[in-house]
Amino acid sequence: MNMIDPFGRTISYLRVSVTDRCDFRCVYCMAEDMAFLPKKDLLTLEELDRLCTVFIEKGVRKLRLTGGEPLVRKNIMHLVRELSRHLKSGALEELTLTTNGSQLARFAGELADCGVRRINVSLDTLDADKFHSITRWGHLDKVMAGIDAAQAAGLEVKLNAVALKGFNDVEIPQMLRWAHGRGMDLTLIETMPMGEIEADRTDQYLPLSLVRAELERSFTLNDIAYKTGGPARYVEVAETGGRLGFITPMTHNFCESCNRVRLTCTGTLYMCLGQEDAADLRAPLRASEGNELVSNAIDEAIGRKPKGHDFIIDRRSSRPAVARHMSVTGG
Ligand code: GTP
Ligand code: 5AD
Ligand code: SF4
Repeated sequence: MNMIDPFGRTISYLRVSVTDRCDFRCVYCMAEDMAFLPKKDLLTLEELDRLCTVFIEKGVRKLRLTGGEPLVRKNIMHLVRELSRHLKSGALEELTLTTNGSQLARFAGELADCGVRRINVSLDTLDADKFHSITRWGHLDKVMAGIDAAQAAGLEVKLNAVALKGFNDVEIPQMLRWAHGRGMDLTLIETMPMGEIEADRTDQYLPLSLVRAELERSFTLNDIAYKTGGPARYVEVAETGGRLGFITPMTHNFCESCNRVRLTCTGTLYMCLGQEDAADLRAPLRASEGNELVSNAIDEAIGRKPKGHDFIIDRRSSRPAVARHMSVTGG
């Protein structure tokens, strides 16, 4: 009983934002002064587990924990350990997370123990001062220690970098060599207009077609069919032997192959990152001990998954295309 949306797309990938909080405030992601959800509105870890389990029973094969920063949620390893039973049973193919790396040194070993095989770490620069400014107060050395610990624990690490004009564009070749030298894939992301931030996104926006053309002056990029279930399209870099991914929501929409939905820490299900429509799963979850109500609510929600997002960078307006911040749905 797979979940199939009105456009024939099978939903097999669930992204779960376990908290909207984060210990950084990346300037393209959050305002400096963010109002976070009151703790009392959060689903408990047991409730999150119950919801994830219903999704897995309904055909989810890949589950990614996100945030905010997932590793700042209290007792998060309890949830990871519980969810790992679905890996052992074979119901789930991949349990993973996207993290800013700040707490990884502490958690890497336990994550590997729970059957997590690869993780994505967000890292937009290799320069400590620039890192401090883009995250508003983060320390690069902590993230580096986290990456070291993850690799030492045997986790495959992929780096995510949002490409930002005038910030990291000149650094991308260096980041590529560094990541590949350490056996990590690098994925570049176009900035998406989500949530009010202080910075002007039209100034920061950098189409990845330009980045690719620039990289091709120094590197040979060969398109490859490698797939992770995420939206990136990959090339292999002949000079380094490593993989480079491009996530291009703004210039090349990948919605036709969308396989994912997003659950927030309050039990709201977003059917698309770039649309406001959402379904409440908390009420049906709490209304009964059985899972029938929540399963029906999920079917109803999947039945209205939109065809795609319509992000545009609007040069006449400073308003974001989507009012909620990325940290609510975890990208
Ligand atoms: P892999 O499993 O490694 O492929 O990861 P992933 O790309 O699915 O997840 P990750 O958390 O690393 O996300 C990287 C970026 O892709 C984030 O900025 C997300 O916002 C963006 N992204 C993921 N899914 C979608 C989507 O459906 N639509 C849009 N517009 N962006 C997405
Ligand atoms: N546009 C694109 N990517 C973003 N991220 C956060 N905010 C945005 C945005 N507005 C990225 C983070 C992280 C991933 C989960 O989402 O850098 O890598
Ligand atoms: Fe936190 Fe990630 Fe947003 Fe940065 S991009 S503020 S690390 S949620």
